Amino acid sequence: MSYSKHNTLLYVENLSVAYGDKVIIKDINFVEKDVVREGSVTGQVIAFVGRSGRGKSTLFRALTGLVKPTTGKILIADTLTDGGNDAKEVEEGDVGFVDQKYTLFRNKTVYEALLFALRNQKMTKEEKHDKIMSYLSEWGLEKAKDQYPNELSGGQRQRTAIIEQIFCSGHYMVLDEPFSGLDVGNIEDAKNAFNLISSLHSFNTIMYSTHDIELAVELADSIYVIGYPTIDGEHAHYGTIVKHFDMKALNLAWKEFGLGHLEIVKQIKTAMLAS
Ligand SMILES: Nc1ncnc2c1ncn2[C@@H]1O[C@H](COP(=O)(O)OP(=O)(O)OP(=O)(O)O)[C@@H](O)[C@H]1O
Ligand SMILES: [Mg+2]
Repeated sequence: MSYSKHNTLLYVENLSVAYGDKVIIKDINFVEKDVVREGSVTGQVIAFVGRSGRGKSTLFRALTGLVKPTTGKILIADTLTDGGNDAKEVEEGDVGFVDQKYTLFRNKTVYEALLFALRNQKMTKEEKHDKIMSYLSEWGLEKAKDQYPNELSGGQRQRTAIIEQIFCSGHYMVLDEPFSGLDVGNIEDAKNAFNLISSLHSFNTIMYSTHDIELAVELADSIYVIGYPTIDGEHAHYGTIVKHFDMKALNLAWKEFGLGHLEIVKQIKTAMLAS
């Protein structure tokens, strides 16, 4: 499938994050560009996999501006001006974030939280209501509409958090383990939502982490493996990118899961076990 690469949407250079004097991630470098395919709107879907504790959530906190990098920089295209030709350093609020714990407003019901997420949209009250109701029904949350977070199941909380970010984030969205705790039906809903978001605008960039390697390979067009590197035969104890699979270049992106994908699953597992 032919495609071309345009503006740089995300540029990460020499990124490291330390908590106190403990280095958690280091030497992270990667670039993601706007992918253009003729006849279709194609956003970027980027997966991060890696064993527990290797620094995926830490990387995401940096990518969303929630923690300041210790070294390096994270630039995103300033998609609001100049057709995305300007770059800016990422700041808190630029990138939507669904964290691993699905934090929600404690004092707002599902409906109120979603209404709040739409506060800056130029829509009438009725339009907002209709939009919320249609998402609630699509995501199986109708019955939870007037419930507070402490009255929701983990999966319901998570779906609410995902819809919240769909409603209020711009072109970038980071989801930390969006599929954990979802049942098969919910996973299908989340997958459809990913496809929908990424087909709305070619700048739309979804980054997610997952422990489900098959789901990474099935959905993403770019996959990064985060792990401990081996340097001079020694295992280092900070996370970095140990492997990258560009599914577009491998001619596996935007396709049904097949043998080629299975081979990548195998390679990812090998890379993870070694790091
Ligand atoms: N606020 C913090 N202060 C100190 N250390 C931290 C802090 N947050 C995370 N860490 C440490 O950073 C390392 C990476 O954690 P992180 O949560 O980024 O890993 P992860 O890859 O997301 O793991 P998982 O797959 O289990 O979610 C861990 O050793 C963790 O203990
Ligand atoms: Mg994590």
